[in-house]
Amino acid sequence: MRPVCIVGTGYVGMACMLGLAELGWVVHGYDIVRDRIDRLRRGIPPYREPGLDEILRKHAETGRVRFFDDLEDAARDAMVIVVAVGTPARDDGSADIAGLRAALEALSEVEFAVRPTVAIRSTVPPGTTDQFAALVEQRCDLVYAPEFLREGSAVHDFLHPDRIVVGCTAPDAGLAYARLLQGLERPLIFTSRRNAELIKSCSNAFLALKISFANEIAALCDSLGGESDDVLRGIGYDRRIGGEFLRPGIGFGGPCFEKDVRSIEYVASQRQLDLQLFSATLRVNDAQPRRVLQSLEREMGTLAAATIGVWGLAFKAGTDDVRDSLALRIVDSLARRGARTVVYDPYVHVARLPAASRLTTSALEAANADALLVLTEWPQFAAYDPTEYGPSIRRRIVVDGRNILDPERVTAAGLRYVGVGRESSPCPKRLTAVSAI
Ligand SMILES: NC(=O)c1ccc[n+]([C@@H]2O[C@H](COP(=O)([O-])OP(=O)(O)OC[C@H]3O[C@@H](n4cnc5c(N)ncnc54)[C@H](O)[C@@H]3O)[C@@H](O)[C@H]2O)c1
Repeated sequence: MRPVCIVGTGYVGMACMLGLAELGWVVHGYDIVRDRIDRLRRGIPPYREPGLDEILRKHAETGRVRFFDDLEDAARDAMVIVVAVGTPARDDGSADIAGLRAALEALSEVEFAVRPTVAIRSTVPPGTTDQFAALVEQRCDLVYAPEFLREGSAVHDFLHPDRIVVGCTAPDAGLAYARLLQGLERPLIFTSRRNAELIKSCSNAFLALKISFANEIAALCDSLGGESDDVLRGIGYDRRIGGEFLRPGIGFGGPCFEKDVRSIEYVASQRQLDLQLFSATLRVNDAQPRRVLQSLEREMGTLAAATIGVWGLAFKAGTDDVRDSLALRIVDSLARRGARTVVYDPYVHVARLPAASRLTTSALEAANADALLVLTEWPQFAAYDPTEYGPSIRRRIVVDGRNILDPERVTAAGLRYVGVGRESSPCPKRLTAVSAI
């Protein structure tokens, strides 16, 4: 069996590798960072996610995954090569596709055993794959096959996609890629490379829009005395709308949504298109951490010289990724207001924090503060008993930036609870229960 080669062993590359190994393929992983390959050879994944160590160990043993620090060795015999290198945002909002160009240029030098299909899986501005085709098309066919996984459940999502999108100019090249995933039996969309790029960017833009919509509804609820959990649940049950991503919080962070919305907004602005929703989505999101901080400030009076316990630093639960984490931005803002922070995250044990902040490995130690701020939706935070951590919180204030704690339980422990778009005296549980009959 000819191997599949993955170029770039980050979040997406690793999920592709392990997902394809689960489907029975032999997969070669190559990364430009040699240390990452050395560690992977020793069974150490580049990031944390539930179950990742086990599945990596399993396929190191089955021999279906192998790691290479030489691209020629990794790619020479491959029938399909998946490129999953980073495409970070530049300061002006445009996507930096230099790493992708470098990867494709390196591939154009490889003496392949047979002509392979190269699938770009990184998120790119529309037109990028067509633009880069000339780099490799002497030796390979180039398709665009976007990734839709969520960090925290990356391998699972790779294996259970809602759809498989393949953008290609030649059907055979698209089929060579799609065959890798044929066991998944998911809706398959063959389209142009540009359309496939637009599907990816605009899917992320819509998800980001839903989050910003939920945050605006939460602001409305705060002002009117409504309960955004119930309101958004009531909206989300409408199948035309759908309940996922319709939850308020501190806003969307992470390596994708902001970057991808800024990138598509940049593309539109370069074409003098006056599109409104992308920038509105970002404006709402920028305001959201400030709203959560204002809630804390309202309760505390001043934040200067206060110690704030923070639960959660990762941009979402289930990962140690702090790229563009809004929790980090909030910790920075707290420092600028003169507050000290003691931060606990179950997965994040190293992060660049302001001088007045420190990480702890104990949730209880973080709660030994003037007030507690919850910034990542780790389920265990909701499971902690407020009667145990509550007595450590000197001013008895809990600001739940993720609406993950049970307000009644927290309040019953003698704490003042403040959520996002949540009434301070929430509806009794029994009313919610009646609605489920
Ligand atoms: N992280 C996500 O949740 C997610 C989801 C869907 C799509 N994406 C997109 O997928 C792409 C990759 O994202 P990621 O989060 O996996 O990034 P990442 O930074 O975790 O991983 C990128 C990897 O590529 C390697 N790399 C960079 N240049 C290289 C080169 N020339 N040759 C070989 N390796 C190279 C890096 O060393 C790194 O290991 C991005 O375009 C991102 O927008 C990410």
